[in-house]
Amino acid sequence: MLNTAPSEQPSRSPADAITPSRIATSLLSRYRPLVDDWEAFTHALARPQAPCIWANPARIAVAELAALLEEQGLTAQTIPGLPHALRLPPGTKAGQSWWYCAGLAHAQEEVSQLPAQLMDLTPGQRVLDLCAAPGGKTAQIAFALGNRGTLIANDIAHARIKALQGNLDRLGVLNVTTTCHDGANWPAASGQFDRILVDAPCSSEGTLRRNPSLLARLDGNNSARAEVRQRALLRKAVQRCRPGGRILYSTCTFAPEENECVVAAILAESPHVRLLPATIPGFVTRPGVTEWRGQRLPSALAHCIRLWPHHNDTGGFFIAVLHKDASAAAEPAPTPAVFDDADAAEWLSGLNAKYGLDAAAWSGLRAHRQTRRGLHLMAADHCPPAVPKGLASGLFMHRTNIRPPKPSTSGALVIGHQATRFKIALDTEQRDRYLRRETFAPTPLQCATTPPGQILVSYRGHLLGVAVLHRSGVIESLFPRRWSGCAAAP
Ligand SMILES: C[S@@+](CC[C@H](N)C(=O)[O-])C[C@H]1O[C@@H](n2cnc3c(N)ncnc32)[C@H](O)[C@@H]1O
Repeated sequence: MLNTAPSEQPSRSPADAITPSRIATSLLSRYRPLVDDWEAFTHALARPQAPCIWANPARIAVAELAALLEEQGLTAQTIPGLPHALRLPPGTKAGQSWWYCAGLAHAQEEVSQLPAQLMDLTPGQRVLDLCAAPGGKTAQIAFALGNRGTLIANDIAHARIKALQGNLDRLGVLNVTTTCHDGANWPAASGQFDRILVDAPCSSEGTLRRNPSLLARLDGNNSARAEVRQRALLRKAVQRCRPGGRILYSTCTFAPEENECVVAAILAESPHVRLLPATIPGFVTRPGVTEWRGQRLPSALAHCIRLWPHHNDTGGFFIAVLHKDASAAAEPAPTPAVFDDADAAEWLSGLNAKYGLDAAAWSGLRAHRQTRRGLHLMAADHCPPAVPKGLASGLFMHRTNIRPPKPSTSGALVIGHQATRFKIALDTEQRDRYLRRETFAPTPLQCATTPPGQILVSYRGHLLGVAVLHRSGVIESLFPRRWSGCAAAP
């Protein structure tokens, strides 16, 4: 199953029920001096949060996605300040929709979408996402870079990188290399980056609306434990940022110990770094805290941004944008990773011949062999460093160690729209059966010009994946088992 979208929580059981008075008597009460309207804050946290998605800019315009949702009876709201985002009616299970399986959208709550907006991203920049899984922000950054160039997505947790890779595959991200490394010990041999995101592990109090069971697990020592690691991660980001570059530090906690205090500590030891004032059009924000429990912080900390749940009806979030002085020491470019593309051209021409693809379908892309299993596809100008060693570069496109070789679902989603043969458009019922991995019969008209064999299947012009049209006339779904958790509900 794909990583469960963060916005998709089961309905609350009575044990999980959060009330304003439970919040007021919890450890969160220590934030009372920081909150402008305590009653509104506790009431907002006690309400479940509406899910939010963004339209995949490589596949669909947000207005077209909104129209598809409307047909499904879902009235989505646009969100000022987030041009690709749509807020869905409460309780919507986005991940079980066909358009989610087809990689037309990604579920990510509003405030979590803001860091990428503030990174000032343009194609050509070399970017590091130091704590990347499950990858919502990685995917946003990848598309802001035009799905080209070099983005490294790192996380310390291997299992979470699997979820990250699943999301990148489904969305068709081609400019990311994933790595599994302790971000605090990120190697200098990786070179310097134009932009670095530190979306730090934190006590996550700001996600309470989506994770109500968190309230019972709040622990007064969480922040003290987290801040040591957070400082180490931000310190490393400062070291690896190029002169004139930008670092974005974010958390989903209210705790000043994990937010302003971490930023203040790193600023104090980094003469080349300063905070940039940041604004987020369309969102009500509050400045960073400059005094906490008797500790006074430099006034520049007010440049940080706090998002409180009751101001925008969202989760809680914290963002600091740091700039590294252009006069800091620059380093030479790192040694690049080497890719094996010796047999790629032969495989690509095989795909061209079978699916009637034009050779131009591969322009700007590079296929390479990373394992004996098959070929990966990445942006031709993707240039990760040799160190640390990447887990995967680009997406797994074509399985070549089986007979017959088979395009992966993520490969089909990327290049399938250009296929002119061996492609069948499904109706609504067939679409749902395909996504549930069932076998079904096409109409004679649907397969009139398609001989038996491996085929690509689409719905309303959007690729869904790979199937087999058997001689008996039935279609066998090859939709991946691990993706079928997001298959359309019956
Ligand atoms: C807040 S989550 C990141 C969410 C992610 N940026 C996104 O948008 O989907 C924090 C992540 O930091 C990772 N992490 C914790 N300690 C780390 C470390 N020392 N180095 C790198 N990643 C770390 C966790 O495994 C977790 O996936």
